[in-house]
Amino acid sequence: MSQLLVRGGQPLNGEVTIQGAKNSVLPILAATVLTGDQVVLRGCPCLRDVDASVRILQSLGCQARWEGDVLTVDTAALNRCEISDILMREMRSSAIFLGAVLARLGRADISYPGGCELGPRPIDLHLSGLRDLGADIREEGGVLHCTAARLTGRELMLSLPSVGATENLMLAACGAEGTTVISNAAREPEIVDLQDFLNACGADVSGAGSTSVTIRGGRPLHGCEFRCMPDRIVAATYLCACASAGGEIYLRGARERHLVTVADALRQAGCAVSADGEGIACRCRRRLRAIRPVRTAPYPGFPTDAQAVLMAAMLKSRGATVFEENIFENRYRHVDELTRMGAEIRVAGRVAVVTGVERLSGAAVRCTDLRGGAALCVAALAADGETRIFETAHIDRGYEDIARDLRALGADAVRDDNA
Ligand code: UD1
Repeated sequence: MSQLLVRGGQPLNGEVTIQGAKNSVLPILAATVLTGDQVVLRGCPCLRDVDASVRILQSLGCQARWEGDVLTVDTAALNRCEISDILMREMRSSAIFLGAVLARLGRADISYPGGCELGPRPIDLHLSGLRDLGADIREEGGVLHCTAARLTGRELMLSLPSVGATENLMLAACGAEGTTVISNAAREPEIVDLQDFLNACGADVSGAGSTSVTIRGGRPLHGCEFRCMPDRIVAATYLCACASAGGEIYLRGARERHLVTVADALRQAGCAVSADGEGIACRCRRRLRAIRPVRTAPYPGFPTDAQAVLMAAMLKSRGATVFEENIFENRYRHVDELTRMGAEIRVAGRVAVVTGVERLSGAAVRCTDLRGGAALCVAALAADGETRIFETAHIDRGYEDIARDLRALGADAVRDDNA
């Protein structure tokens, strides 16, 4: 089991290039199923969740190979429609394959994605949308049997702007006859990236980034070469790392327009955040000050995925900051671990109040989930002495090598794979 060792107390100084976005690559890998052809993904991050998607594709009969950061997938030979329970449990966003496999083969059997570290993560919106497009879906012993002799485009209204449901339905709608309009669609930048990918494959998708996405289905898709967008949550993590440790960093490739709310929060706290068209710079020289309440919301609101890392950055600020988590029910599991380092945080339901302390001290802590684990790294940079972070496999789901990147930014962080 690997561990991360972070010795805090020194300001950051350095530059790192931001990896490709996990949340963009995963739906794109599912979308490759629709092409029945070869797709070349450049700048593909090497992550546990990407590896899980590749294994799903291989289990369906597809081929995949890596060369550096280029992942080439060929879905021509796809001939199976079941995704095993083991693969489904490994990555909860595997439900995204449902729409694509159904559109390609007219049938898909997947097990229910299991219970989740962030609280219940239902897929009812995915399923009702697929039913509206003409799929027949039955559940038997935890397995969803989905069939559709043909899918037919129509107007779909999501009761909440779910990212995964929007993506799943975009994929299914590409294989449906006629036009589908998804209203109250999620507006995340990763949806725009998926639209760009599908259009590069010959699809006709428009409106992504707004609340209404239109898919003119039934077109034959082909392979393409594509470069995924930079990971805005990894960029947010390193901005918060700088805010926590102090210093000056440059994030090459990070896009300012994807990080408006995070940059705004850090500016309120006293950091200087600026962009030059090729990346984002952050400078933090003084003790941070408390900021206005941080309320997570669907994009363009403050991202739930950046809540934990911003909280970690605020632990030594002057004053108290209120966090309100509005997307997932159980997203404060990192709080107990941060408390072990000396943080003062009170949680009541969806609200957490962070009161800044004078000092944090290194401790042995455990990752509870992906972003919660990243938050421990952020806090460790501001703690006296060494922090030993256990159960780092969570972090590997979304960060290629967080210790490598933090070292490039001037931190004392190492990974111990033999622990
Ligand atoms: C995606 C991201 C995740 C991010 C989240 C919110 C990926 C791979 N993951 O997850 O990192 O934290 O968006 O920005 O892109 N819901 C339902 N029924 C459904 C679907 C969702 O009730 O059928 C609820 C969920 O329980 C949750 C909320 O809607 O409370 C948002 O979920 P959703 O936007 O679907 O998140 P994911 O796509 O799972």
